[in-house]
Amino acid sequence: MAEQSANPLHRPLPDGVVPADVVARTEKRWIVIMATMLAVMMAIVVVTGITSALHPSSNVEVVDATNLHLAGEFVESNLGTAIEPDGSATVRIIAEQYDFVPRCVRVPADTPVKFRLTSADVVHGFLLPDTNVNTMVVPGFVAEVRTRFDAPGDYAMPCHEFCGLGHQAMWAHVSVEPKSGSRT
Ligand code: CUA
Repeated sequence: MAEQSANPLHRPLPDGVVPADVVARTEKRWIVIMATMLAVMMAIVVVTGITSALHPSSNVEVVDATNLHLAGEFVESNLGTAIEPDGSATVRIIAEQYDFVPRCVRVPADTPVKFRLTSADVVHGFLLPDTNVNTMVVPGFVAEVRTRFDAPGDYAMPCHEFCGLGHQAMWAHVSVEPKSGSRT
């Protein structure tokens, strides 16, 4: 073998075969880089999950999307905010092309709030900016998200899954009101 020059540009090119130790060293470096990236991403998932309750909904619950309006939990009279006996709030919303029903919901501040959503047609998305509320709304399933609003305020809630030509107009509002006198 020819003597190797210190300048890599002057070294002869390997004739089609990269030495095994070079391959092993390169692979080891990439394994370390990939493992580090994986560890960082896992740490972000775990930390945001624990500190900010950012996680996918933990329940898998099915519902018949073909008769939402006729029977069961999502009939029209049952939509909107309900205050449970324990003082917490449950909000039921149907997402459909191209609206949330009801379009505006009122919830009390400083109270546990449970959103239960389902879709009447295609996949929609439900997001309240600056909160942990962010879920897909899939027909046939109930998406459940729990949160708590510290202070009164207004949240615009956009549909964030492309659901058709009217997608960009699919907005609604969550109005967080002072704790007393809250009922929608
Ligand atoms: Cu509903 Cu996009």
